[in-house]
Amino acid sequence: MTFLVTGATGTVGRQIVAQLVERGAHVRALTRNPAAAGLPDGVEVACGDLTSPETLAPALEGVTGLHLITFGGDDFAELETGPEIVELAAKAGVTRVSVLSGWDESSVERALRAGSVGWTQLLCVEFMANAYDWVDSIRDEGVVRVFGNHLGAVVHEADIAAVAVAALVEDGHAGESYTLTGPEALTPEQRVRLIGEAVGRELRFEELDEAGYRAAMQAAGVTEDMIEFGVQLGANPPGAGAIVQPTVERVTGRPGRTFAQWAAEHAAAFKI
Ligand SMILES: NC(=O)c1ccc[n+]([C@@H]2O[C@H](COP(=O)([O-])OP(=O)(O)OC[C@H]3O[C@@H](n4cnc5c(N)ncnc54)[C@H](OP(=O)(O)O)[C@@H]3O)[C@@H](O)[C@H]2O)c1
Repeated sequence: MTFLVTGATGTVGRQIVAQLVERGAHVRALTRNPAAAGLPDGVEVACGDLTSPETLAPALEGVTGLHLITFGGDDFAELETGPEIVELAAKAGVTRVSVLSGWDESSVERALRAGSVGWTQLLCVEFMANAYDWVDSIRDEGVVRVFGNHLGAVVHEADIAAVAVAALVEDGHAGESYTLTGPEALTPEQRVRLIGEAVGRELRFEELDEAGYRAAMQAAGVTEDMIEFGVQLGANPPGAGAIVQPTVERVTGRPGRTFAQWAAEHAAAFKI
């Protein structure tokens, strides 16, 4: 079987590629920039852009398992090319699809719902990897400033990938919509403490009010849309965000990775 992984150079996609390679699968990785992809040996790198479906036909040749993202471009704009992508996949003979969904349903999910290829939806509340946003302030000042110190059942990117891989290589996942979380709900303050333990440095946590958050984001050059998104999340976090789901363990047969584990694996990024 040949698997095509889109988003293959991203947080989740890299993990999917690595786990498929570990299983001895033939993996093709889609990127808009093969020269910068930095993917492991043995992975076939294919150039293509999901916003230009005509570039995807060669990458889909001989593919039976396809992992899809639902955005295109560095501003995470929802893909509008879902119907063309799904039609090309069906024509190529793809039989299993996993989809990393965003906040809203995109044209990719809508096209899959209307089509005949078996697919599995991965819905994630919050990635552990979002803690990378704190790298600079931790390294420079030993502090993390957050608006909304709410519990979040953050999930490890390797566990999202493990579920995607199960959906691509095993029967029985088509038609499922899996909500993926980590094994515990933690506040940002608790996550900062765990990073501090992993780094061996006491870190401060400061809770911002809305005005302070807006000012900090504007100073960092964050777009108004993204700031508004952050304000909504900080002020009204989705209730589901704090609820631990058993899906990772149920699908993969092993407990979800903890945030302490994530922090230990990524400690070097937070060290001065
Ligand atoms: N962060 C969270 O807490 C969270 C929670 C729930 C859902 N999500 C969802 O997770 C997704 C983000 O996943 P991620 O963090 O793995 O992404 P990421 O690390 O930002 O990676 C982006 C990937 O998308 C690829 N890409 C972007 N535009 C493309 C295009 N036009 N054609 C082909 N490839 C393109 C990039 O490939 P190249 O640059 O190599 O071409 C790269 O591999 C979003 O849908 C988001 O809504 C995130």
